[in-house]
Amino acid sequence: MAIPRSDLAARAAALRWYHSIDLGDGIVTTGVDDTLVRLAQLDLPASLAGRTVLDIGAWDGFFSFEAERRGASRVVAADHYSWHGGGWGTKAGFELARDARGSRVEDVDIDVMDLSPERLGTFDVVFFLGVLYHLRHPLAALERVASVTRDLLVVETVVDMVGIARPAIAFYPERELNDDPTNWCGPNVPAVDAMLRSVGFSRVRTVTPQRSAIYRGARALVHVMRGKNTLRLAYRQDRAAFHAHK
Ligand SMILES: C[S@@+](CC[C@H](N)C(=O)[O-])C[C@H]1O[C@@H](n2cnc3c(N)ncnc32)[C@H](O)[C@@H]1O
Repeated sequence: MAIPRSDLAARAAALRWYHSIDLGDGIVTTGVDDTLVRLAQLDLPASLAGRTVLDIGAWDGFFSFEAERRGASRVVAADHYSWHGGGWGTKAGFELARDARGSRVEDVDIDVMDLSPERLGTFDVVFFLGVLYHLRHPLAALERVASVTRDLLVVETVVDMVGIARPAIAFYPERELNDDPTNWCGPNVPAVDAMLRSVGFSRVRTVTPQRSAIYRGARALVHVMRGKNTLRLAYRQDRAAFHAHK
């Protein structure tokens, strides 16, 4: 049964949102993330008709609902940390959005390191968006992610050491990235590419453009003004997206 509009608006307003999600009836949640900007950079297939999709680290579920909107036959949203409080958030946003949208997205509570075909099966398309840099063991995690991917893996991540040609990964033992202790690693683009090939993807394409020095300088200044980074570190950081095919 549809949630009455006034009730939906009040319940949405009472939650802290990561994603801005259209709940219908003119209600859009007020997420802190620039999700639409990131979506535009992912180059997702316009149609996912008939495809099964796993969204790892789904949080409020924006990208799961987007896969459903694009016609996926089955979508599973997987997460753990942000669904259990402790500074990250809760699952209440995902559940409210799913109800409000009349969505059939399934959910599974699982850590990336526990993903396996035995636990979850395999999926035509897997989203791994905004998660890699939170992991202490990025290559081991990508092995788990590859094990549940049948065809296409879409990865979006913070990248660091931009401009260095050799594969390299910055390590954040403290709060070096965005003053956030849950960030552990910043691979550069060649490192993400090489890790994806090393875990079994035969074709890897970086779908975000290479940025100019002016763009990177301006981006770094914004980060410095937000008070979360030094100019020297921020200039080497960016975000990038990849399509990897088996
Ligand atoms: C920055 S948010 C990204 C959310 C969403 N995927 C997006 O791109 O907007 C990082 C997400 O990764 C999840 N996450 C972090 N470490 C994880 C792990 N080891 N296993 C599963 N999820 C993890 C968090 O719970 C959180 O939902």
